[in-house]
Amino acid sequence: MAIRNIVILTGAGVSAESGVPTFRGPDGLWEGHRVQDVATPEAFARNPVLVQRFYDERRAALGRVEPNAAHRALARLDAEWPGALLLVTQNVDDLHERAGSTRLLHMHGELKRALCTGCGAAPAWEGDLSGNPPCPRCAAAALRPDIVWFGEMPYHMDAIGAAIDAADLFVSIGTSGAVYPAAGFVDWARSAGALTLEINLEPSAGTPLFDSARHGPAGVLVPAWVAELLG
Ligand code: OAD
Repeated sequence: MAIRNIVILTGAGVSAESGVPTFRGPDGLWEGHRVQDVATPEAFARNPVLVQRFYDERRAALGRVEPNAAHRALARLDAEWPGALLLVTQNVDDLHERAGSTRLLHMHGELKRALCTGCGAAPAWEGDLSGNPPCPRCAAAALRPDIVWFGEMPYHMDAIGAAIDAADLFVSIGTSGAVYPAAGFVDWARSAGALTLEINLEPSAGTPLFDSARHGPAGVLVPAWVAELLG
């Protein structure tokens, strides 16, 4: 089957070699923090300062990391692939865009964006949110991180669904497949008739759902796969 339309899903593993911690497993972010203390609307209502500081630290840490070979290879694919391509990332870092990807959707939000709970504006944001800075649009001190927390609806689901329905190839890179709806994309893509490939450091819970899998570091495997695809 000729491949024209590609959907790529990335998770924390694609940024691991840049020095951004993943969520699960040893040294993962969820080892040092309880999800329900920092990544739910209830946590923010209960202890906004703790939650703002958690995301302020992670936003500041982005200034100390750089895109790696996997981000760069995906940006090359974006620039050179003649068919449809959509890169869907669960990551809230900005390493895909800094590498040059443009056909990109952040389904779990972005660290470098704030969300005003007053007026709904989502301004680009570089600094801290603890300290309650005013919203640039409505001036209310009502900004939260523009991060999709547990219990909230991921962004761009209509556009992602349309791309998966039209996909000939679905590739999942560096994600444990533990969080829905992203973990369900492989089944969805298969039902839509796409070939499916997993690239991950190690087998994941979802590995049996894929037509094929390659296991090893994304910084090595993704450039090799992109080079194959571009011939
Ligand atoms: P996880 O931490 O659950 O999984 C990261 C995956 O990357 C694991 O399967 C690792 O084996 C793999 N990995 C680690 N280093 C790698 C490397 N160098 N090359 C390739 N793979 C590597 O992270 P996600 O699956 O992204 O949601 O987690 C999904 C969501 O759960 C996140 O978006 C976040 C979290 O709670 C929100 O914050 C809303």
